[in-house]
Amino acid sequence: MINVRQLSKTYETPGEDIRVLDHLDLTLAAGETAAIIGPSGCGKSTLLNLLGALDRPTSGTITIGDQDISTFTEEQAAAFRNHSLGFIFQQQHLLPQLNVLENVLVPRLAGDWQEPAADTEKRALQLLENVGLSDRINHLPWQLSGGEKLRTAVARALINRPKLILADEPTGSLDPASTDTIADLLLTLNRDHGVTLIVVTHNAALAQRMGKTFELRNGKLF
Ligand SMILES: Nc1ncnc2c1ncn2[C@@H]1O[C@H](COP(=O)(O)OP(=O)(O)O)[C@@H](O)[C@H]1O
Ligand SMILES: [Mg+2]
Repeated sequence: MINVRQLSKTYETPGEDIRVLDHLDLTLAAGETAAIIGPSGCGKSTLLNLLGALDRPTSGTITIGDQDISTFTEEQAAAFRNHSLGFIFQQQHLLPQLNVLENVLVPRLAGDWQEPAADTEKRALQLLENVGLSDRINHLPWQLSGGEKLRTAVARALINRPKLILADEPTGSLDPASTDTIADLLLTLNRDHGVTLIVVTHNAALAQRMGKTFELRNGKLF
């Protein structure tokens, strides 16, 4: 499923270059779950952004399924993100002028979405029920609590039935009960649909629920 080889990422900044990832390797089979832990600034978001084709490596290869995503054009990367990937960010990036249901449907706005609109909407409503937001579908983001915003973002990340979910500190600001709800949902998707899961987290309880835990240190995973 995921095969990362000799992945390096250096940010070029005025003054000095920052080498964040240094010949990092990672192999995960389809359907595995993994936590990535490590101190702030060690490169966890950098790694996740590379896995999600949001950024380009300095060197090395990232194969996901049978695609080498490190060589993608902008267009290919956008299609990959829209069709194959669920990305849950630290900041949820909900669109402020759209309500909860519309935010979940945003990925559908891409021109090449195949499913009929009514079917996508039906699934969106089901996902919102799964995350406990059935009574919030008409709310705007500013009317939601932090946990509700996150659950909206989780539903949005699942609307394209991703084979891979990347989550960057998804439960950072949540209370333990909400953290459990999110973890339950992600692990249910893993169990029932074989979705591969990579979760960056500071939360030891969440990390423990993943099949594997990697520590990012000195630009490599241990
Ligand atoms: N776009 C960027 N330009 C320059 N430096 C960056 C950029 N993004 C991240 N960094 C630096 O790379 C290091 C790793 O950042 P990040 O991947 O966000 O760490 P983490 O998610 O583990 O906290 C940090 O030192 C950060 O300052
Ligand atoms: Mg980060």
